[in-house]
Amino acid sequence: MIADCGFVSVNPTSEIPNPKSNMAYLQPDKPEKVYLPAIRTAKEKGEKLVCLTAYDYPTARIVDEAGVDMILVGDSIGNVIHGYGNTIPVSLDEIVSALIAVKRGTEHAMVVADLPYGTYHVNADETVRNALRLMKYGGAEAVKLEGGRNRVELVKRLVDEEIPVVAHIGLTPQSVYKLGGYRVQGRTADAAKRLIEDAKLLEEAGAFAIVLELVPHEVAEIITKEVKISTIGIGAGAECDIQVLVLHDLIGMTFGRQPRFVRQYANLREVMTGAIQNWMSDVKKGEYPNEKESYGLTEETKKELEIE
Ligand code: KIV
Repeated sequence: MIADCGFVSVNPTSEIPNPKSNMAYLQPDKPEKVYLPAIRTAKEKGEKLVCLTAYDYPTARIVDEAGVDMILVGDSIGNVIHGYGNTIPVSLDEIVSALIAVKRGTEHAMVVADLPYGTYHVNADETVRNALRLMKYGGAEAVKLEGGRNRVELVKRLVDEEIPVVAHIGLTPQSVYKLGGYRVQGRTADAAKRLIEDAKLLEEAGAFAIVLELVPHEVAEIITKEVKISTIGIGAGAECDIQVLVLHDLIGMTFGRQPRFVRQYANLREVMTGAIQNWMSDVKKGEYPNEKESYGLTEETKKELEIE
């Protein structure tokens, strides 16, 4: 049984689905395709990399063609796409479905998929099975899971099974009920030390990168300097090796107040609203569709039908 505590749907099969049923991603790689060695080399050279989320084919294509290094099929899909309000209900099926579409739209970037809440919490075997499903069926090139020292054994096990792992510490949105909200983590000396220790333990366990979410920039800087693996910052200051943002925050496809670390580079919500309202107005005035946007009969057919 493929474990999935998601509330939306559960894969009923007892096998990891046949990867050949999803041939779209089984294409030869382009020479510039980003894999782990490129991430390591960038850290060694002090080159900054960028990561964005994507959940569908067109945005994945746009993000990839823009030259982003890493695409995360994040469980933020729960907030951004499904409107759940948090990431807790996101199911493995939802990530797999998004992942397949993203993978089809990506040639260059490394594709990382989130293990959603409930898919790595029961036991290690089930976690491996779920991660393998993301890789074999969805085409993920790495998986991400949340947690610090409590995930060390799990990270080791996944890495033993040749599954590249991105860890995620600081604010871990899947713990929202435990944390009681989305707040900056690691602000006291003890909490900061704990985060630094967690990062080192996760590095030792074999994670190749660690997301640092909503942590003071000083703490992120210490971690970035003290670990050899890449730090991926979101609300964690400029010193991280890689910066990640939720695409919809960057392009202004969001509702409500945004956290202060978000810099909005476009307002697509406004652009979309304008386009929709212009179209509505043209329809109501009878200006859409015009003749060029319509199809007509030949003169001969019109004669036969006795149309002027
Ligand atoms: O799900 C997600 O988009 C994430 C990023 C915020 C790092 O985990």
